[in-house]
Amino acid sequence: MPHIVVVGSLNMDLVVQVPTIPAPGETVLGDNFATIPGGKGANQAVAAARLGAQVSLIGRVGNDAFGEQLLANARREGIDVTHVGRDETAASGIAMICVDAAGQNNIAVASGANYKLTADYVRVAWAALPHVDLLVMPLETPLETIETAVALANQSGTKVILNPAPAQKLPAHILAGVDVLVPNEPETAQLTDMPVDTSHEARLAAQELLNLGVSHVVLTLGSRGALVLDGATGQFSEVAPYPVTVVDTTAAGDAFVAGLAMGLGEGRSLVEAVRFANAVGALAVTKQGAQPGMPARAEVDNLFEKGVLP
Ligand code: RIB
Repeated sequence: MPHIVVVGSLNMDLVVQVPTIPAPGETVLGDNFATIPGGKGANQAVAAARLGAQVSLIGRVGNDAFGEQLLANARREGIDVTHVGRDETAASGIAMICVDAAGQNNIAVASGANYKLTADYVRVAWAALPHVDLLVMPLETPLETIETAVALANQSGTKVILNPAPAQKLPAHILAGVDVLVPNEPETAQLTDMPVDTSHEARLAAQELLNLGVSHVVLTLGSRGALVLDGATGQFSEVAPYPVTVVDTTAAGDAFVAGLAMGLGEGRSLVEAVRFANAVGALAVTKQGAQPGMPARAEVDNLFEKGVLP
């Protein structure tokens, strides 16, 4: 079983189901409100744990009720949260999420304690952990912390999977330490300053990400699947999506990233790991909520190995 370490965010998601996503200035009446454990880092950790990985999460929550619930939920999922600190000065991160009738969403995050996760805290945590096979990270914590985690992983010979979400520009020295970069289309456009509207453009942008220093690129294309660029061979592969009924797309990218980490951790080739990740991401959109929506290993095996759709 691979040991996957996630350095990343924990948020309480405040979710409203709405018929349509409100436009600026518009008020929309929704049906349902729920508080659901989320945060890209914790979502990736939960998804990996449900796939059977040994998972350690390095993060920070506030010393408040949401922080307590987020920690309790991660523990219930079997995640080692020894290195999730409690911050006395900042509230736990929250995300305000609207999910519409088609399962699409918009998200606004108040990072709170996630932005108090320091590079020093990660250094101490990393030194205390047993052998790490893969480091997985989104971008909802300070860039200096991400930079340190990448350097620590590089020094230990640990593979780094970076999910550059939410979109932001990244310095070359961080990109140079990344084994597999997993951006979606807007994140790719932001990182490269290139359009990503057609498959030809997606290939050019993926190539540019290799030029910027990452070793391999897996570009997620939503309902169009994924584009893989293997940096060792220069070969592109398009991985088709699974035809599932979409209920809620929240955290689909997180599920995919966890699936990719587990696929690689179990020794699959990059393209096979992306196929496995596609199954994990597809199943996640068939259920509501970030962490509750992450699929169990048996469901993933049914879809990935036997093609049984949910
Ligand atoms: O990727 C989905 C996640 O983004 C949500 O759970 C929310 O907390 C935000 O971090």
